[in-house]
Amino acid sequence: MKHFLHISDYSDTELWEILNLAKDLKAKFHHRADVKHFKNRSLAMIFAKPSARTRVSFETGFEWMGGHALFLGPNDIGIGKREAIKDISRLFSRYNDVMMARLFDHEHIIELAEYSTIPVINGLTDYNHPCQIMTDIFTVWEHMGKIEKLKIVYMGDGNNIVHSWLHLAMKIPMDFVCCCPEDYTPDNGTVQKAIDAKISNITISHDPQKAIQNADVVYTDVWASMGQKEEALEREKIFSSFQVNEELIKNSGQKTLFMHCLPAERDREVTDGVMEADYSIVFDQAENRMHVQNAIMVYLSEKNK
Ligand code: CP
Ligand code: NVA
Repeated sequence: MKHFLHISDYSDTELWEILNLAKDLKAKFHHRADVKHFKNRSLAMIFAKPSARTRVSFETGFEWMGGHALFLGPNDIGIGKREAIKDISRLFSRYNDVMMARLFDHEHIIELAEYSTIPVINGLTDYNHPCQIMTDIFTVWEHMGKIEKLKIVYMGDGNNIVHSWLHLAMKIPMDFVCCCPEDYTPDNGTVQKAIDAKISNITISHDPQKAIQNADVVYTDVWASMGQKEEALEREKIFSSFQVNEELIKNSGQKTLFMHCLPAERDREVTDGVMEADYSIVFDQAENRMHVQNAIMVYLSEKNK
């Protein structure tokens, strides 16, 4: 059974297949074509954390493709608390055709997949967010006409978003810079694997002005992720010099696109001015979540036949 848990589980050819499929499905969605990939099928969406984009894009996308999506929020099933993960996994494998889960502990999604006889899609864990970064690179492709050899600068916390960028950098050549405070670097093992893959240039920087030079894209995310919100005030002080503002972007020395997975905390990690600037492509990213996830679901259903 093929799942979608980490971008690094896929070859570059497979990733391109998904991106091309997303392009096709996006064009079809825009004229609301009659797409019936999931007629009489159901998607179980398990959320242990809040969500706007992931929930609405998966549900809307799956229903457009003819299926039915079930939302199971943090208080519904109590995965891993009220009921064991491996039991939920086997239970939903009997009822549903696809499972998407947003969980805290990354080991929990691995366990969900291990016991599942239907494809499991990672809708974010504390460790990574593969649907988001597949979408991000699709959005870069749309805007730049290419995805290889671009300089992508991530500014902020070395978190789940960064781990998925590093996984992508293991497969597709890029110049990837994670610019973060010294105590907030991404997972060492993941950084090392990305370096060892010898596909991309990987840099961990602590100097925003240096990192931004010649950036094609500057990307940021909240300084305190879900599950860390009680650290928000403390982090605000530590991260203040990593804010993405108009002046920082001007210093890149070239045209630089701004990206953010959203939700954004305006005037913390990014200014309102940058969010609203013509070089900000955050809503294209948000829209593309649906098209890329539709492609991932269609791809998995084809491969698992
Ligand atoms: N970017 C993203 O995953 O958004 P949600 O948390 O709203 O789903
Ligand atoms: N790093 C953020 C991403 C939200 C989409 C979080 O985990 O909360």
